[in-house]
Amino acid sequence: MDKQNRKAIIAGNWKMNKTATEAKALIHELIPAVKDAGCEVVICVPFTDLVTAVELTKGTNIHVGAENVHFEKSGAFTGEISADMLTDLGVEYVVIGHSERRQYFAETDETVNKRTKAALAGGLKPIVCVGESLTQREQGVTEELVRMQVKIALNGVTEDELKNVVIAYEPIWAIGTGKTATSDQAEEVCAAIRKVVGELYGETAAKGLTVQYGGSMNAKNAEELLGKPNVDGGLIGGASLKADQFAIIVDAATKG
Ligand code: PGA
Repeated sequence: MDKQNRKAIIAGNWKMNKTATEAKALIHELIPAVKDAGCEVVICVPFTDLVTAVELTKGTNIHVGAENVHFEKSGAFTGEISADMLTDLGVEYVVIGHSERRQYFAETDETVNKRTKAALAGGLKPIVCVGESLTQREQGVTEELVRMQVKIALNGVTEDELKNVVIAYEPIWAIGTGKTATSDQAEEVCAAIRKVVGELYGETAAKGLTVQYGGSMNAKNAEELLGKPNVDGGLIGGASLKADQFAIIVDAATKG
């Protein structure tokens, strides 16, 4: 019931794929494929594809996101990109704390928190990623870990700002592996995320929060995952690089 009141969001995470030329071709395929979507459609693309993506999606129902943002406003941070730089281009969303950034680029819960606050201050909508490794799942600490990741990520975020936050539950063992969490596993953790947000901000805020599942979501399993009461959308890696596959997932979210 509450689900109807929340925004379902299907976001593609292209990762380090697609040159600007390739992005152009994919976006041309995507526009007609998702034009009747009953959910919000977002493509999070490499920095070098942002200008192309914003230009090509103008006047369509596709929203554009980046895959990372730095937490300082400006300054001597060679190679980094600020929130203001992104909003100035017309970028609306940004993925924060993806497990690949935590694993390969020393991202921590503290930097995730700093980036989340910087993104919100700059007018971006952060898609904050949380999730456990296989070892942590086997140790039985998934819920504790995800609760802690959510609490730290949201530290200092106001209730008003929370309206622009999306949380993506992405079990690390399911990312790019073809191993999807069962719909019950996804539901259990997405519900736990909503619960901790409820403890922090109250029930109304928790009921309004969009919680996505990500990790090998594809055209075949999307409907079952997205049918769960606490799964409001998906963060899609591999399957977001094929317009027809991505469109099937968007349709599944529309049915919800
Ligand atoms: P995947 O990636 O769909 O390829 O598993 C999801 C993600 O990393 O966001």
